[in-house]
Amino acid sequence: MAALLRALAGDRPEKTPVWFMRQAGRSLPEYRELRVGTRMLDACLTPDMAAEITLQPVRRHGVDAAIFFSDIVVPLRLAGVDVEIVPGKGPVFANPIRTAADVRKLCEIDPHDLDTEPIKQAVTAVVNELGDTPLIGFAGAPFTVAAYMIEGGPSKDHLRARAMMLTEPTLWHQLAAWLAEVARVFVSAQRDAGARAIQLFDSWAGSLSVNNYREHVAPHSRAALHDLGVGTIHFGVGTGGFLPDMTLGNTVDAVGVDWRTPLSEAAAVLGPNVTVQGNIDPALLAAPWPVLEQHVHDVLQQGRNARAHIVNLGHGVPPETNPDQLTRIVETVHAFHGENI
Ligand code: CP3
Repeated sequence: MAALLRALAGDRPEKTPVWFMRQAGRSLPEYRELRVGTRMLDACLTPDMAAEITLQPVRRHGVDAAIFFSDIVVPLRLAGVDVEIVPGKGPVFANPIRTAADVRKLCEIDPHDLDTEPIKQAVTAVVNELGDTPLIGFAGAPFTVAAYMIEGGPSKDHLRARAMMLTEPTLWHQLAAWLAEVARVFVSAQRDAGARAIQLFDSWAGSLSVNNYREHVAPHSRAALHDLGVGTIHFGVGTGGFLPDMTLGNTVDAVGVDWRTPLSEAAAVLGPNVTVQGNIDPALLAAPWPVLEQHVHDVLQQGRNARAHIVNLGHGVPPETNPDQLTRIVETVHAFHGENI
């Protein structure tokens, strides 16, 4: 079985599996070349292009998994929502979702009516090329996607989303439940076409208090992921204070840890029933190789405290990263057997 799938099942293959969030993207010259003249969401919805971009980092770095090239807002575009990805900024919505009428109108769209055909075609093309290397499918978690929709675009503290949650809890739960179903439809399409694992990105969950996370967010994320029949990974930034909650009550096989929480601490609080994923500091991708190499060894060493470990970054690859650093990380991780420190 592929190393990534073994690690998700709680096993420790001889070579620790490694992949990178945002491995498909602007750090690769072949990506930048292919994307010239095509807008981000158009690229995501052009099956040949999405498939080729997904495969690029696998060929170049020899990572243990592909991550599907798409975006957390793609299923919203498929639902007819007016959203664009503005380069250097992120998702921007023409009509932010702020009122009860906005939420009601949105929820009239049945997530099961989404045309996921371009997603399935791209995934099928990827899986045909990948051989034994697994493809990870993904979706954005309801809170992170809602944070963009309610603000209308990127924001630092997601104040409007957090305010809606507390001042209009019924409205919030209606929106979050709809987004959970949208995420479920999106990841189910990827799974049906051959994705072997699913990662849920709740990138901005760290802006929530533990209690608000537990009450207003976790049940919706769980609804997006439960009983998918493939391995699942749940990732958030700044979630070190509530990592056990990120298991969604034993729903997920692995929890992604950002660079702030030492992996040995994460392993201790998460216990023996979950795999850890992480947590190379993306800032060190710009460091001289000996500094980065030392850090990678430290992450590997700390990961031994968990039941199993998937090496990744603590967040995505910064666009200005020299891709050779990523290739060297893969080589270093694969050469590590626990004693060569
Ligand atoms: O390689 C991969 O990880 C797979 C593809 C992927 C993308 N976005 C491609 C992308 C994945 C898994 C995502 C998820 C995503 N999208 C998240 C969660 C992960 C995270 O980073 O926290 C979020 C918050 C988004 C929303 C989003 N999309 C942002 C903030 C941006 C960056 C805008 C910018 O220009 O800096 C995007 C655009 C985006 N998504 C790019 C890529 C490769 C860059 C597009 C480009 O080439 O211009």
